[in-house]
Amino acid sequence: MRVVFVGAGPGAADLLTLRGAAAIAAADVVIWAASLVHPDVLAHARPNARIVDSAALTLEQTRALYEEAARDGLTVARIHSGDPSLWGALAEQLDACRELGLDTEVIPGVSSFTAAAAAVQRELTVPEVAQSVILTRLEGGKTPMPQRESIRAFAAHGTTMAIFLSAARSGQLAVELEAGGYPPETPVVVAYQVTWPDELVLHCTIRTLEETVKAHRLWKHTLFLVGRALEQSGTRSHLYHPGHFHGHRRADPAARAALRARR
Ligand SMILES: C[S@@+](CC[C@H](N)C(=O)[O-])C[C@H]1O[C@@H](n2cnc3c(N)ncnc32)[C@H](O)[C@@H]1O
Repeated sequence: MRVVFVGAGPGAADLLTLRGAAAIAAADVVIWAASLVHPDVLAHARPNARIVDSAALTLEQTRALYEEAARDGLTVARIHSGDPSLWGALAEQLDACRELGLDTEVIPGVSSFTAAAAAVQRELTVPEVAQSVILTRLEGGKTPMPQRESIRAFAAHGTTMAIFLSAARSGQLAVELEAGGYPPETPVVVAYQVTWPDELVLHCTIRTLEETVKAHRLWKHTLFLVGRALEQSGTRSHLYHPGHFHGHRRADPAARAALRARR
């Protein structure tokens, strides 16, 4: 008798973790976000499991379902798109479960931002180019942004950004990115429904961001990756350099001397 929050990944059913699939298979009630989770994920559910689309539910109705499951001794799998810790309304559901005295578990999932990076085969943290990734969204959506979390303020760092939930305001997004300090030719990846059968992944720049999004009529299920790491290789990492040593490998003396000289 418990609620398991399962990260279903970005779409493709084989990007679900083994643990997530097992949790869905063990559930009496499966609540899923039909608009964001591919229906193939439901293939893991038992044939007699009760399937509920979360889009039709308020938090109060979800809470009532959890309460009902607790009363009947049932296990619930609540499926979230990507990773449940990112824009999944997870906190309010965990609070509700705590109030109801229900056991909970959270199973991580592949987030859409890592799926988008994989789709374009880029590292987001390229040595000496970008060593941080900012996960954020544009202000102006339904949920107010905390102060000091504007795209403009984050753009000042010049590192890699993954921007969720913002495709409907692509013009404003481009203005804010540039106003924060990214040069207009900074590369951008636009990933729509990444890993779904109708996936669309486009390369543009901040200058051409708005026209690219509008030309393809993208306004939802779209993620943006922004930053120089999307096109630059940077320097090689120290970890695999022959001059670097650690607990599992000795350094080559000549390579080590060369590495130190470079520093
Ligand atoms: C409610 S948030 C959920 C994010 C999710 N928890 C994650 O880790 O990816 C929905 C937003 O995530 C992004 N997103 C989720 N799945 C996506 C996909 N398959 N392709 C592109 N963007 C996606 C979009 O920005 C979308 O507006």
